[in-house]
Amino acid sequence: MLMKVKTEDWVLEMRGITKSFPGVKALDGVQLQVRKGSVHVLVGENGAGKSTLMKILSGEHAVDSGEIFFQGTQLGQQNTRAALELGIAMIHQELSPVLDMTIAENIFLGREPMQTRWLGLFVDFERMARETQALLDRLGLPYRAEQKMRELSIAGMQLVEIAKAISRHAALVIMDEPTSAISDTEVAMLFRQIADLKARGVAMIYITHKMDEIFQIADDITIIRDGQYVDSGPASSYDQHKLIGLMVGRTISSIFPKETVPLGELALSVRGATRHGVFQNISFDVRQGEIVGLAGLIGAGRTEVARAIFGLDRLDKGEIWLNGQKLTLNQPSDAIQQGIAMVSEDRKAEGLVLCRSVQENISLANLEKFAPGLLLDLQAETEAGQKMRSMLQIKTADLNTVVGTLSGGNQQKIAIAKWLLRDLKVLILDEPTRGIDVGSKSEIHRLMTQFAKQGLAIIMISSELPEILGMSDRVVVMQEGHMRGELTRANATQENIMALATGAKT
Ligand SMILES: Nc1ncnc2c1ncn2[C@@H]1O[C@H](COP(=O)(O)OP(=O)(O)OP(=O)(O)O)[C@@H](O)[C@H]1O
Ligand SMILES: [Mg+2]
Repeated sequence: MLMKVKTEDWVLEMRGITKSFPGVKALDGVQLQVRKGSVHVLVGENGAGKSTLMKILSGEHAVDSGEIFFQGTQLGQQNTRAALELGIAMIHQELSPVLDMTIAENIFLGREPMQTRWLGLFVDFERMARETQALLDRLGLPYRAEQKMRELSIAGMQLVEIAKAISRHAALVIMDEPTSAISDTEVAMLFRQIADLKARGVAMIYITHKMDEIFQIADDITIIRDGQYVDSGPASSYDQHKLIGLMVGRTISSIFPKETVPLGELALSVRGATRHGVFQNISFDVRQGEIVGLAGLIGAGRTEVARAIFGLDRLDKGEIWLNGQKLTLNQPSDAIQQGIAMVSEDRKAEGLVLCRSVQENISLANLEKFAPGLLLDLQAETEAGQKMRSMLQIKTADLNTVVGTLSGGNQQKIAIAKWLLRDLKVLILDEPTRGIDVGSKSEIHRLMTQFAKQGLAIIMISSELPEILGMSDRVVVMQEGHMRGELTRANATQENIMALATGAKT
């Protein structure tokens, strides 16, 4: 269905957009029309071509063929700076802020205010800091302008990028999965900004995999699948079921395919785990076949606890036991040797080697398996890679594709895939389906259930309450480094968890 809107109401119109990368046709005749002052949600499975379409708009990729009209004028081959000057701002899915810059420097990057003093022209740092602070305060962000980017959480960096787009007075702001790394409170903060921008006539293209968000903020929706335009229309003409069907081209029976698995022996025991100033006195157990969800707001200390169990950080106090044996974990290799694996939330920094191939990434985590002696068993390696690929439905031309060029969701699947060949006892998943489309999400959940059936003890950190509620046998809630409660599957509700996570109930 085409939207029945007069052309002059469009701020953006893209027609017949086609783009190929070596071996992949990422976009094939895609169209997109965005109304002035509207929130347009762009949806589609991982690898559908959403980010690529937006990168063409922002001038990062050249288009092979197709036309783009922005505010009534046709755009030629442009670059990022030209797009910025026209009033198109893009917030990327994979953030790459310069970590050693301050927030103010990042916000003013490339357009620093200058001042003349007796020796010449200088960057006016004072003004930069002042204006940045005013912006942060206006947006209700709890940061200081002179704070270094590296001090912020992923969520914080994302919010700063949003502030940056706002400060550039863009007419069209593109947000590529802005909430994939942030908590509910921060999402609320972002949605207030979106409403505010909209009221000022700014149009937004918003990419997300979160179903509840789509219907909360979308005015219009466009669906693409495998690089092709599928459908478009006002949000009110869709419901969740219809939308999922259009996105994945098939119906998905259940979003959380949780099965009750008989629990085995006690596997992992965390006793009084403490890292001064980070988390205090954390104790919980995970049995074989059990999925324990770690819930809490961003910064509650969940990832830090996981890091300690994986041997990345030392405990100041407390013990970690596995199958009745007390563990000494000085580094991740100690944990890996014991059969503990972790899929980290920050796949860029810890999870994957982006400049290496899919195959190499899978093999690197399993070297002793493929190279029992000194020679690499190439056949076993390739077979395992193929198996992983079909199991997780990783969308890649072949196993030699460089991981960095895959879509965000497919990168995440590989970060998980690389562990799945090992003989595991404990699997720690930190935000396992962040940025993953609904179809693949249920694939990953199905895999989790399969591992649980094989007797693995699973710890899952997730900021998505539906995922916590859908997949956990038990939920441990943390707040500000403390354990605030433990809920059984039967007792775990959205309200109970939020009350504990925000400290409303102790
Ligand atoms: N720079 C690149 N080089 C080669 N292939 C690429 C490049 N960028 C994207 N692709 C490929 O183009 C296709 C579309 O990718 P894109 O990142 O646009 O997907 P997406 O819809 O944003 O997915 P996700 O929801 O996972 O972020 C994928 O098959 C991807 O591997
Ligand atoms: Mg993307």
